[in-house]
This record gives sequence, C-alpha cells and structure tokens, in this order.
Amino acid sequence: MSLPSLADLHALKPLQQPTYPDAGSVDAAVQRLRTMPPLVFAGECDELTAKMAAVSRGEAFLLQGGDCAETFDGVTADNVRNKLRVLLQMAVILTYAGSVPVVKLGRLAGQYAKPRSSDTETRDGVTLPAYRGDAVNGFDFTPESRIPDPQRLLDVYNASAATLNLVRAFVTGGYADLRQVHTWNTDFVKTSPAGQRYEALAADIDRALAFMSAIGADPEELRRVDFYSSHEALLMEYEHAMTRIDSRTEQPYNVSGHFVWIGERTRQLDGAHVEYFRHLRNPIGVKLGPTASADDALALAQRLNPDNVPGRLTFITRFGAGKVRDGLPPLVEKVTAEGVKVAWVCDPMHGNTFESSTGYKTRRFEDVVDEVQGFFDVHRGLGTWPGGILVEMTGDDVTECIGGGEELDEAGLAHRYESVVDPRLNRVQSLEMAFLVAEMLRQA
Ligand code: PEP
Ligand code: CO
Repeated sequence: MSLPSLADLHALKPLQQPTYPDAGSVDAAVQRLRTMPPLVFAGECDELTAKMAAVSRGEAFLLQGGDCAETFDGVTADNVRNKLRVLLQMAVILTYAGSVPVVKLGRLAGQYAKPRSSDTETRDGVTLPAYRGDAVNGFDFTPESRIPDPQRLLDVYNASAATLNLVRAFVTGGYADLRQVHTWNTDFVKTSPAGQRYEALAADIDRALAFMSAIGADPEELRRVDFYSSHEALLMEYEHAMTRIDSRTEQPYNVSGHFVWIGERTRQLDGAHVEYFRHLRNPIGVKLGPTASADDALALAQRLNPDNVPGRLTFITRFGAGKVRDGLPPLVEKVTAEGVKVAWVCDPMHGNTFESSTGYKTRRFEDVVDEVQGFFDVHRGLGTWPGGILVEMTGDDVTECIGGGEELDEAGLAHRYESVVDPRLNRVQSLEMAFLVAEMLRQA
C-alpha cells in the first residue's frame, strides 16, 4: 500500500487548502521541502505509539497542549520556554496528584495552518482572504499580506526546526530535571493561589526526592522527560513533502511531527486527508464533534487503522460542555463494543467558543472544566478510560479566556489578547485546570 502522490490527493479535492496565485512557486517550495532532513525520527514516532497504546489500555494519561496557532514571531527562546514550563508543571501536577504516568505532547513545532469556517474576512466593508495561519498568509489585514505565499511552507519547516531544537535541549539538558520542580514556578504565578498550591506539591516532591537520594536511588527518569510534538496535518503540500519512507520498516512516516491529527472539518471518510493519513505509520488523531455518529467513528477507525494496532489511533472529542454528556456515550459504547482499540482524548476548547459582548472570540474557563468533567463522567459510566486532554494554552499572562480563579471578565479581555485564532488558557488558568483534572483522575 504505497503513499498516494500529491496529484492523487489533489484529485480528491482536499478541503481547507489555500489558492496559490502561482503554481510554479508552489512546486519549487515542495521540491525544496522534499530535500530537507526529517524533524523527527520514525523510531521516536513508534515510541509514542507504544505510549499511546498504554493510554488506550488505561495505563497512562495524555497531556497535549500549546497554541491554537503558532506564529513565526512567536519563535523566541522566552516564548518556547514559557510554554514548555507550564506544560511541565501541568504534567507534574497530573502525575503526582493524579498518580498516573503522563504522556507529554506539545501542540507545537508545526502548528501553523488553520482551517477556517469562511474563505474570506470582511472588516468595515473590505473583504479579503481569511487568515489561514502563518503557513499560508499574513495576519495583517491588507491585500498583500493575505495573498497565500508558498515560500511560507519553508518558513514553517525552519520555525519548526528551531522550536523543536530548543525543546529537545530543554527536556534533555537539565531544565526538565525533576529537581528543578520549584524553579518552573516563577514570577506572578508563584503568588497566585494555584501557584501556591503548586509550591506545596513541589515541596512534597522535594521530600520524596531527598528520601530517594538518601537511600542511594538516582534514576535516570528524574533527569529528563520524553516530550513529543504534534500538529494538525492540514496542508497537503507541506505534509506530503515531509512524508518519507523509513529505511528500517519501508513504511511512510510524516517526519514533521511525532503525532498528527485530522481536524473536525477535514475528516470526511472519502476525503483527501483520510486517504493521506491511512498510509502513515505515525500515531494519529481524529477530531470528533457533535455531528459525528458512532458509525462515522467506526468507519474512520476501520479506514485509518484496519489492523486495530493499539496506540495508532486517538479520537479527540470536542462536543462542548452542553453536549458531551449526551453526545459522547453512543460513540464510546459502539466503538468499545466492536473491540476497536482507540485512545479517547477530550478537547474541551473547540466546542466552547463564543464571541464576547466586547467582540473577542473567547471561552469560559468553567465551560472548559465542565466539558472535561462530562468526559470523565461518561467514561466512568461506561467503564472506559478517559485517556487525556488537549488544551489550547500559553506560558504567558494573556487575557483570552474568561473566568478561572482570577475571575477574568469580558471587559478584561482587551488587556492582553494576543491569540491570532482561538483563545488560550493563560498560565494560571492552565495550572488551575491541571489541579482540577488531577482531582478527576483520582476519582476515575
Ligand atoms: C483546532 O484544534 O485548533 C481546531 C481547529 O479544532 P477542530 O478541528 O476540532 O475545530
Ligand atoms: Co483552535
């Protein structure tokens, strides 16, 4: 079963693709990308598949997090470190307070292309092509900036390489050492109630580490963490060019990220994305929203993972807080009854977006938490495992989601709203979320 060509995939009319003005420069960018070294290795993808298999068996929990859309300007040492720091803190909270191994997956180093509900955007009577992520066009609302530019595909590669290089240095070079557990809790966070709760937890861990050291135990696991990258594989040109045949297995892997997923808008069974994904050997995800039926889920599993390989397929459900309790059970029930092996992950963000009275795209922290609670309740009711969460979050003190312990209100959104697409949990809200989910895990 060999990988279809880019032309074969285009014949299937992939949705959510840019319309480039000049085909010649698209080909040139694709040819160049095909010569670039892999960003991740097939063996690392296999390792992650094994970890996702543990998630699907109920032996581990997935924490997947990062920006809705990364930006080229956001590739700075501070930004990458801040995001990683919160993810490490969240992972420690979940591991320690939830007593479960946590698989750490960044939504980063490749998350540059966005599906949009409309092809165009209108402001004050002016209509331009919609912003589709830095992989496609510029965010500035000018005709020049909104023209899709294939050169940006190479910029995605370079930005992803720089990000992943820094992440790899952080997670293996001492920054992620568990003995640093206090140093991740800095500045304004430290004084917040969630930050103080974290301090107490870190102090417990310190005592455990001191005990281990006293008995002469010094396991390697304390010094480094396994951390993986993921993004929505949306743009056919980029993803196809970054798909390579692994020399060990002779199988195709997408080497631009460890884990890739199909979005809610591109999961049609006969569509180009499903056709492309079914050939990959990476661990993959599919988003399932309220319009997905149990039969859709089964058909996707059959198409994407016909051999029922554990860890290969993750269903990322995003129903919304008001729908998860009724909408999710039929899917989980049928998929489980058929013996289909999947990991179930909750995306509590994309079903809970609304526009504030002040005109910002936002989410209520309480809705996000309520969807995760609903997800846990459904799985507890069915005797299945709530395998993880996917959150849009940032390491900074932004004001994009309302509510949470700091009770951010609609008027406060203007203070520091920086997301170019969807609203993210800020640093304090992310920690609060981790504590609440740890509590749910303890009861699961
Ligand atoms: C996203 O994850 O940013 C996204 C667009 O999600 P969905 O495909 O579920 O709408
Ligand atoms: Co989003």
